[in-house]
Amino acid sequence: MAGGRLYVIDGPDGAGKTTQAARVATCLRERGREVLVLREPGGTPVGEAIRDVLLDPDTDLTATAEMMLYQAARAQLVEAVVRPALEAGTDIVLDRFTYSTVAYQAFGLGLDADAVRQVAELVTGGLKPQRVFILDLDPETGLERLQGGRDRIEGRPLDFHRRVREGFLAEAARLGEGAVVVDATRSVDDVTQAILSQVEP
Ligand code: TMP
Repeated sequence: MAGGRLYVIDGPDGAGKTTQAARVATCLRERGREVLVLREPGGTPVGEAIRDVLLDPDTDLTATAEMMLYQAARAQLVEAVVRPALEAGTDIVLDRFTYSTVAYQAFGLGLDADAVRQVAELVTGGLKPQRVFILDLDPETGLERLQGGRDRIEGRPLDFHRRVREGFLAEAARLGEGAVVVDATRSVDDVTQAILSQVEP
């Protein structure tokens, strides 16, 4: 039985992931695929509630507690939504996944990257995407692109965001052929094309 495919779009803040996820989903639907677009943290009622806590600038959390909340939201999303959808043959375009936790909470906050990966392995049951697209850009440009006020994570110092970017590039290197790094400073159309050229017909 051919199940659905999981595509992950990840990268630093302001890289345009959400726009690209919607565009890629539209193209996949035009190819006749059933597609679900989901985001992390979120995509379930409890995941959205956890998201509100995580992004609220007034929330006080230790690095470990923060990491576990991201992973808890992920556990709920994978088990309750992602796996059943993939089994039903639906493709999923996922806006962020485990690479974000390694980038933000390990590279950014200094938690042990292997420990973060182990928890991620546990909460995802070892689920691996078909392809991972890392939209790469320097944090100055990314943060400038953000509209409105900055949330708890976006509001962290530039140095934090520099380490996050390094984390994403390191995760992409670890993944090897499974990951595609796309220059997110290119036009919206170019980035979509770069992604679609690596998505199986
Ligand atoms: P979003 O703005 O892309 O929806 O993501 C919400 C914020 O949460 C963003 O600043 C990145 C951050 N984040 C983490 O720090 N760790 C994670 O594991 C995930 C999924 C997101």
